[in-house]
Amino acid sequence: MLRIAVLVSGGGTNLQAIIDNINQGRIRNAEIKAVISSKKDAYAIERAHKHGIRTAVISPKDYGSREEFSQELLMKIKGCQADLIVLAGYLVIVPELLIQNYRNKIVNIHPSLIPAFCGAGYYGLRVHEAVLERGAKITGATVHFVDEGTDTGPIILQKAVPVYDDDTPEILQKRVMEEAEWHILPEAIELIAGNKVRVINNRVYRKN
Ligand code: GRF
Repeated sequence: MLRIAVLVSGGGTNLQAIIDNINQGRIRNAEIKAVISSKKDAYAIERAHKHGIRTAVISPKDYGSREEFSQELLMKIKGCQADLIVLAGYLVIVPELLIQNYRNKIVNIHPSLIPAFCGAGYYGLRVHEAVLERGAKITGATVHFVDEGTDTGPIILQKAVPVYDDDTPEILQKRVMEEAEWHILPEAIELIAGNKVRVINNRVYRKN
């Protein structure tokens, strides 16, 4: 059984997609051991409680230094014996300490087709604004492992979504979530839980 810690900061619709896919048997051999939020008022915490999942709030601003924050986060994740960390709308830069301890065991969902519209400053609605400003006709979402860079880790899954002429950033964000994010994040977790993913030289290969 793959033990998962989900890190969140906001509404938690991606967390909900994971919970639903586990409950419906589309993610097999996996359970969420804890939801850790960087914000105490994140709605994701309520979603977790509704499903009897343990939660914790670990916010960088409550610690004297980044080092102390990193240690606390690592301790909490080790405490729930997580095999996989899922960043589901987590708005904090992941401490290097965590990346070193969980190499290719941290996944993130990014709302564009990496390497387009990613890297420093590309988060939330800003990503979709940039897609529209550039006039791209296709966007999408990417699930990738997390390394020390920003959105540079090995790509696990991607899904494309069309951009329409009358889209606003909000409309596009919703389409990307509904048609891409909520599908490929659970799908990537199911692959990892089934031990079907291998990373060689920064590339992900599917095992049968
Ligand atoms: C999603 O767009 C995700 O791609 C991004 O942050 C948003 C989180 O939404 N990283 P939610 O909290 O899962 O609803």
